Amino acid sequence: MIDAYSPVAARAWDGFDQLDAVPADALLGLIGLYRSDDRPDKIDLGVGVFRNDDGATPVMRAVKSAEAHLLQDQSTKSYLGADGDSRFAELLAEVALGSDIARSPRLCGVQTPGGTGALRLGAELLQRAAPDATVWIGEPTWPNHGPIFLSAGLKVAGHRFYDVAAATIDFAAMMEDLEAAMPGDILLLHGCCHNPTGATLAPGQWATIAGFCEEKGIIPLIDLAYQGLGDGLDEDAAATRAMFAALPAALLAYSCDKNFGLYRDRVGALWVQSPRAGTAPLVRGNMFALARSLWSMPPDHGAALVRIILDSRDLRADWEAELSAMRLRINGLRETVAARQPSLAFIGRQRGMFAMLPMAPGEVAEMRARHGIYMAPNGRINIAGLTRENIPHFLASLGQVAP
Ligand SMILES: Cc1ncc(COP(=O)(O)O)c(C=O)c1O
Repeated sequence: MIDAYSPVAARAWDGFDQLDAVPADALLGLIGLYRSDDRPDKIDLGVGVFRNDDGATPVMRAVKSAEAHLLQDQSTKSYLGADGDSRFAELLAEVALGSDIARSPRLCGVQTPGGTGALRLGAELLQRAAPDATVWIGEPTWPNHGPIFLSAGLKVAGHRFYDVAAATIDFAAMMEDLEAAMPGDILLLHGCCHNPTGATLAPGQWATIAGFCEEKGIIPLIDLAYQGLGDGLDEDAAATRAMFAALPAALLAYSCDKNFGLYRDRVGALWVQSPRAGTAPLVRGNMFALARSLWSMPPDHGAALVRIILDSRDLRADWEAELSAMRLRINGLRETVAARQPSLAFIGRQRGMFAMLPMAPGEVAEMRARHGIYMAPNGRINIAGLTRENIPHFLASLGQVAP
């Protein structure tokens, strides 16, 4: 064993010492703090997972049934290939993009490890296809977006999107900032249920963005991580489908980890639409080659469950019913908060699991220290962490900390 006192350690390579220290993920740190807090009325609004009325994140019924099928029927765990479960990608394409776009010869898709894997694969593909492109990202956004594109070697630029103090999208500012985009640049868009703000672009604003992309030659990369948790499966995908229908080239990074509750199983997909059908095989070949060097092949279990669910009329109906109940719970909580606290009326108009409160980091820390309410440092709350029982404690605490 080489310990600090051994002569081998003394003359060892010091490359690791040259690494920059990386601050711990603030949100993951909250998990530990929350666990060790013994106040009975503590509330976890930090971590971004769905919770039911009991504060649990259960395995969905259809997923449990599909797991029973898989246990019974799976006869091998032999390798699948870089494209993973192709039937999964085929069935999911219809859920996400609708059957017309899903069947287009211009489209190709591949299973990925979660939405993160889809974004990273898309970034790597774009880096190969357009190495000088800048990826435009609205602020604020999911904190992993910037690092994913930078790690793939692309340039990243921020544009104004959401005015936290006014609790609304500043669309004029967004379009003004995007004037600086160059032809061939990439525009990252949240398809629905914006994380962290919950703000939703109106159909007319999506149409303006589509027109802008077409005119300027900008490629949209849509991140759809919460389909079905906003207004409904088709409703939440409408903007994505409209962008794919309107534009020659587009990318969709999709996550099943929230709407199937498969978080740790890492289930996602990337679809790329090429301007011409003839280009699609080239895209496909590059996607597979990149996937091979990134993760060789994606994890099978979660995608197999999604495939079994979407392939079975009964399981699919049960999944949709449970997803609707999850959505109704979130939207019901939104309405309750908005009705009880007029200054939070915006929460009732927004969609998805998240909302952003206009709070300074010190106020967020005070919510935790004085009241046992855990929120992301930027003021983001997970609406699903609320219950009818804890809303009064949450609102009273908020009234004391940020009146
Ligand atoms: C906007 C957004 N995109 C992508 C992801 C990644 O999802 P996954 O867990 O499937 O990698 C998340 C996860 O929180 C997200 O909020």
